[in-house]
Amino acid sequence: MLRHLFGILVGIDLILTVTCQSRSFFNMNCPQTIAANLRKCEVFVDSRLDFIDFRQWTSELDSAVKVSLDVTCSSEGTFFLPWPFKARGLIKLNVKGCVLEGFFPETLTQTNLKDELQELFLDNCVIASNMKHVIYLFNKPLTQEIDCGQQTLQRSVFRNISYMSTNKTDEITIDEFLKIFSFVQFFNRLGKIRYRCKYSNLKYIDESISSTRSKYSFLLMTAYSDFPKLHTFRWTGNGYRSVPQELIDWWKYFPQLKLLDLSYNNISTFDFLGAASTETVSKSEPLVVNLSQNSVTEIPVDMPDYLTGSVPIIVDLTGNPLRCDCNFLRYKSYVMNALKRFEKYENLSRITCYSAIMHRKIELVNYRNNNC
Ligand SMILES: *[C@@H]1O[C@H](CO)[C@@H](O)[C@H](O)[C@H]1NC(C)=O
Ligand SMILES: *[C@@H]1O[C@H](CO)[C@@H](O)[C@H](O)[C@H]1NC(C)=O
Ligand SMILES: *[C@@H]1O[C@H](CO)[C@@H](O)[C@H](O)[C@H]1NC(C)=O
Ligand SMILES: *[C@@H]1O[C@H](CO)[C@@H](O)[C@H](O)[C@H]1NC(C)=O
Ligand SMILES: *[C@@H]1O[C@H](CO)[C@@H](O)[C@H](O)[C@H]1NC(C)=O
Repeated sequence: MLRHLFGILVGIDLILTVTCQSRSFFNMNCPQTIAANLRKCEVFVDSRLDFIDFRQWTSELDSAVKVSLDVTCSSEGTFFLPWPFKARGLIKLNVKGCVLEGFFPETLTQTNLKDELQELFLDNCVIASNMKHVIYLFNKPLTQEIDCGQQTLQRSVFRNISYMSTNKTDEITIDEFLKIFSFVQFFNRLGKIRYRCKYSNLKYIDESISSTRSKYSFLLMTAYSDFPKLHTFRWTGNGYRSVPQELIDWWKYFPQLKLLDLSYNNISTFDFLGAASTETVSKSEPLVVNLSQNSVTEIPVDMPDYLTGSVPIIVDLTGNPLRCDCNFLRYKSYVMNALKRFEKYENLSRITCYSAIMHRKIELVNYRNNNC
């Protein structure tokens, strides 16, 4: 959660309303599926839904029953959803297009609910919060339960999530806060965290289209958390201009990574050979780094090494402003070697460079240059 608290210290404005959902509301919206032990709730929110009411409802269900909750909001819809979204039996939570209130919990006391959530999907939502409360929490020591969230997660999607302050006049407080904010103290604090968040089942993370572009996101993500099984990490459309150190050294933090999707960013140079893997057994499956639709112009001189390590790395540079020069020839030679082993990435051979002399694009397979 520390990451989200940190994130909100960049956000902006909002509004509120109130109503309450009863047991019959959830009984109606959560029909029993044929596999009788799953209740699938599908709720359309036009005014306001409160997770606390939902949690009350699940607590009264038979203890063997699992629940999935699917919430879609209208443009007026708000969902009171306190982190870390715990409710007895809740294994899937899917929230679309909502203004999320109460996201940062009022109390930091331990709940007696266990971690159960396996799939979390938040899409096109706005986290509305009172800035004073965020700053208050940010300065508090958090418990492991609150900070790590549910460590049972298998898929975690936070797509297009932005932050707003519920009180416009609060913005003054953010500015004031940032003026006195000490990164040194903050890093000291990270060093003192004594727990680790272990996401032992987490295979898929998508944090695309994020409004916060802090270069410290990855530091916070990896400083005290383990992702031993993560195979897909999507971080697209986030306006990043360089590859964060934690992704250069991806092997240290995400040892099982198969797909790193950084498409639609603004990255101009790259390096993914940072911390060389200590693995001695070669893997047959490559890591695919998707850098399509970025601003890459330079191809690293160690490009051939991307195929010779214990984990071969396929770098997709489709849609980058590549010029027809020796750099591009180096990339061509790498792609041709890659395709000998991994035929299914044949589309890479259609990547083009732009020739200023000929005023046209040339496909990689057809590019020749005797001057390199
Ligand atoms: C992001 O979410 C907002 C609502 O919070 C929506 O208005 C906007 O269209 C979404 N943007 C994208 C690219 O999906
Ligand atoms: C908004 O912030 C101002 C100044 O910090 C404060 O006086 C006011 O009570 C706040 N309003 C609400 C609704 O929290
Ligand atoms: C990418 O960088 C260019 C120039 O540095 C800038 O004009 C553009 O707005 C950036 N795009 C994004 C999505 O941040
Ligand atoms: C990279 O991403 C683009 C855009 O989403 C997609 O079309 C392309 O197939 C991806 N490349 C690989 C190798 O997966
Ligand atoms: C290759 O390109 C074709 C046509 O552009 C597209 O239909 C196909 O999905 C691409 N394959 C991959 C693996 O990206």
